[in-house]
Amino acid sequence: MKPGPPCRNGPSHVAIIMDGNGRWAQARGRPRLYGHNAGARRVREIVETCPELGVKYLTVFAFSTENWKRTQTEVAGLMSLFRRYITREARVLRDQGVRVRFIGDRLRLDKKLVTLMDELEEITANNDLLHLTVALNYGSRDEVARATQRLARDVAAGRLNPDDVNEETLPKYLDTYVLPDPDLVIRTSGEARISNFLLWQSAYAEYEFVDTLWPDFNRDLFARVVRAYGRRERRFGAVTA
Ligand code: FPP
Repeated sequence: MKPGPPCRNGPSHVAIIMDGNGRWAQARGRPRLYGHNAGARRVREIVETCPELGVKYLTVFAFSTENWKRTQTEVAGLMSLFRRYITREARVLRDQGVRVRFIGDRLRLDKKLVTLMDELEEITANNDLLHLTVALNYGSRDEVARATQRLARDVAAGRLNPDDVNEETLPKYLDTYVLPDPDLVIRTSGEARISNFLLWQSAYAEYEFVDTLWPDFNRDLFARVVRAYGRRERRFGAVTA
């Protein structure tokens, strides 16, 4: 993949809540996993489009801490899809110049899946064209709770002075500590909710809620949303002259 001319004032970091796989499958009289499989194919297409649009960071919400409440069949199917996706895409992503990272709590995930995640992070560690972050067993509240635990341990051990806890030091304990904050958060499927996704990090992000179901969200729609962002004025709480 080659970087294209960046879209003017385009977002550097786009985060996506990929919603609507179930409804997409249901509309075709198929099981929900059929929709998740179609959704996974779109992930590849959107990944390939990012460098053309000047998007350097892409973060996708693949499985939330709340998604364990789904049926055992769906959860097991999704976990097997993640294993297959990583196995199948690993070399492609590496050769395309994509650096992959995972955020979320790995403790509840199957060991075999975690090994695949670690390996993919390792083999793509020197890439820099696109930074793809996959949120897997991720929830913002869970992330903040885990971060606070680590922070409290550092304070208890004398490594951190409580007076030094501020807006700069706290994010260093989050899963996203190496990433810039998202500029644009997109949610597909017509739902206007954040669902516990990057709450701290998206404090000043622009949001775009699109009606299209995730398996239908193609590169043209993505490009349109990214270009529309370039026309917005971001003020970060200030006023423009
Ligand atoms: C939400 O749709 C989607 C998910 C919970 C899973 C997201 C997973 C993928 C797109 C597949 C693979 C991703 C990667 C990174 C390999 P939903 O099931 O909530 O849809 P609904 O709201 O219509 O029921």
